[in-house]
Amino acid sequence: MSSPLPNATDFLPGPVLLLGAPGVGKGTQAKLLMEEFNIPQISTGDLLRGNREQRTTLGMMAEELMTKGLLVPDDLVNEMVSERLALPDTEHGYILDGFPRTLNQAEWLDTKLVAYMLPVVAINIAVPEKVLLERITGRRMCPVCGTIYNIYTQPPKSECICDADATKLVQRADDTEEVFHERMNSFRQKTSAVIEYYRSHGNRFAEVDGDRPVHEVTKSIRATLLKLRHHPEN
Ligand code: AP5
Ligand code: MG
Repeated sequence: MSSPLPNATDFLPGPVLLLGAPGVGKGTQAKLLMEEFNIPQISTGDLLRGNREQRTTLGMMAEELMTKGLLVPDDLVNEMVSERLALPDTEHGYILDGFPRTLNQAEWLDTKLVAYMLPVVAINIAVPEKVLLERITGRRMCPVCGTIYNIYTQPPKSECICDADATKLVQRADDTEEVFHERMNSFRQKTSAVIEYYRSHGNRFAEVDGDRPVHEVTKSIRATLLKLRHHPEN
């Protein structure tokens, strides 16, 4: 049983960053925390895929890079995040999933959040690399409600069908072994420095072990978030 959480009126999560390599479970955990804390999940990957489906200029520019496992330029992603953060549902907090991914994005976010009521807290989900390939190649998603499955570890009740709305599940175009290795390269070259940047913030950073069952990881993230926010400086 998970421990009871203070409800949204007692506890303001504020801005929360979920960090970690491809497949560590950022999206899975963000969706669970979003429901619990009643704050939005802002996934830059999901926003870019949405742009791609709608054939916007940004989506078409991003498509080729995403298919190759490369990062989309900082200016474009920062602008997209800026527009999303301006929506009123971010007032009590939000979970940024997959952003920032470069030091430039992290520094931009610092300037963006100067006037926010609470400082940002960052939680890194750590999973050994050898586990991640199976998570990525086994992932399936519902194109309608966004529920994330895994054919090995989190299968739907009926093969390839979403439990929630019976839609046929899809596989992301970048969830191949080849693109996974490119995404890991991007992570090592650009995003691992972002984790060290937030680690150096001391009281605003924590790491959780993501190589455990989903509900145990959620429990750890929840407890970590409460602890970080109860620190006098946060
Ligand atoms: P994005 O969509 O963010 O992809 P990613 O970072 O590679 O992360 P994933 O979504 O693959 O993994 P996740 O950590 O969310 O894991 P999930 O919960 O799904 O980005 C895609 C692309 O967009 C980038 O490559 C880049 O091109 C571009 N982009 C995005 N943001 C950008 C930015 N800021 N700047 C520039 N470019 C950007 O779980 C994975 C699987 O594991 C699932 O099958 C799930 O069921 C399973 N699973 C989860 N938790 C567990 C568990 N505890 N035990 C067992 N299985 C589990
Ligand atoms: Mg994700």
